[in-house]
Amino acid sequence: MSDKVKIFDTTLRDGEQSPGASMNVEEKIIVARQLAKLGVDIIEAGFAISSPGDFEAVRRIGQEIEGPTICSLSRAKPEDIDCSWEALKGSPRPRIHTFISTSDIHLKHQFRMTREEALKRAVEMVERARGYVEDVEFSPMDASRSEEAYLYEVLEAVIDAGATTVNIPDTVGYALPERFGALIKGIKDNVPNIEKAVISVHCHNDLGLAVANSLFAVMNGARQVECTINGIGERAGNASLEEIVMILKTRKDLLGLDTSVVTEQIYPTSRLVSSITGMMVQPNKAVIGDNAFAHESGIHQDGLLKEKTTYEIMRPESVGITQSTLVLGKHSGRHAFRIRLHELGYDLAPEDLNKAFIRFKELADKKKEVFDEDIEAIVQDEVLRFEMPDRFKLLSLNVKSGTETQPTAEVEMEVDGTPVKDTGLGDGPVDAAFKTITKITGTKSVLLRYSVNAITGGTDALGEVTCRLEEGEHIVLGQGAHTDIIVASAKAYINALNRLEYKKKVKRERLV
Ligand code: KIV
Ligand code: ZN
Repeated sequence: MSDKVKIFDTTLRDGEQSPGASMNVEEKIIVARQLAKLGVDIIEAGFAISSPGDFEAVRRIGQEIEGPTICSLSRAKPEDIDCSWEALKGSPRPRIHTFISTSDIHLKHQFRMTREEALKRAVEMVERARGYVEDVEFSPMDASRSEEAYLYEVLEAVIDAGATTVNIPDTVGYALPERFGALIKGIKDNVPNIEKAVISVHCHNDLGLAVANSLFAVMNGARQVECTINGIGERAGNASLEEIVMILKTRKDLLGLDTSVVTEQIYPTSRLVSSITGMMVQPNKAVIGDNAFAHESGIHQDGLLKEKTTYEIMRPESVGITQSTLVLGKHSGRHAFRIRLHELGYDLAPEDLNKAFIRFKELADKKKEVFDEDIEAIVQDEVLRFEMPDRFKLLSLNVKSGTETQPTAEVEMEVDGTPVKDTGLGDGPVDAAFKTITKITGTKSVLLRYSVNAITGGTDALGEVTCRLEEGEHIVLGQGAHTDIIVASAKAYINALNRLEYKKKVKRERLV
């Protein structure tokens, strides 16, 4: 059996299903380019039929990103398979991934199908997909809650129909590691034609076991792991790519397995995904959290200073965490700026680099040192706004506040291209600005969280504000950066309102 484990990255599909994490086409292309540099084997670029945006992302990633296989998800329906093919047909390495549930609980309550009907449909759709491409993946959704004998029967039939990868999802994160490992072994022992397909696993993290379950699967013969950057994904997320890859690398002595991931690209990729999705990484997150290589206790520091391996099982450099000494400021040139962007996961096209560099120089004039968070905020603001048509734009903002003054905001905006001006009061300057913006835009969202994240240096630092808004079923994050924290707040709020508008529009256009 091969000692290579394929890494199937689904950040752009399952990862994007995290509440508030949706990305536009340009953002997805930037992430896909970085995933190719990271060396993943397969990129699941989207669910082509689900929206025009997903279709376009699959189509463009398939044509523009070199290296990995590009995959599109499809329900086991003819129109989904045909649509995936339409999106993928310009790609040199296309994969169609189709799925249907095999658990009785899903078949009875959701699909309203018998086992026989589901099996027949799975076979027909795999055959249809094989009519278009040679590389077809089939997933029996909710496999870990399916009856094993039936699961074996379905897998045998879809492999006979041409599936080249069979992916075993723990859709609801219910499995326990040992049992999940045994399920994979059972598949290897009981599906007669299993050698004709690669066994893959796709584990969700509802009980915090996604990585452990994936690992047990690999130890029992799985040779593809589906995972996401920072472990983002539906509900509690998917198995985290960085953890899986670093477990295999760090414990190669025991496991004897490899991946093709360029581990030095892990940290830049993680930063890129968190800045684009607005989903921050918890500081104590394994491998890529801020504290993953930070040593606080005196005993640990003493040991580390004597010999790094006393308290570090991986070198920070091996995951791309460099203790960079390059200070960026107003004397820095385009080269240093480009290198730092690259370390943060951004390889921008020349015109975007120009735009970002101009903003960087303006900022560097106002601040002594420009920090990584400042740079990410600039890229967010200046570059990653391509395809999200903004209904609302801030034209000007003036706020009065102080110990003797009731905070008042005077806001001028453009709403669908028409200038509108209004004044409003609030409990504080940010509250006054937000209330006035709400009045002008006529929006009905609820502010769930407001945080000022990156007052990175002294009082002259660029403030990065993040706010989380909810309207109906939609939750979005908005970000804004400015040296004036009230302006940063207004920009973040308006950015979130625009994202809400975008999500509502996408939802209206989505079929599933
Ligand atoms: O969690 C799941 O079962 C999935 C399938 C579509 C593979 O995401
Ligand atoms: Zn999933």
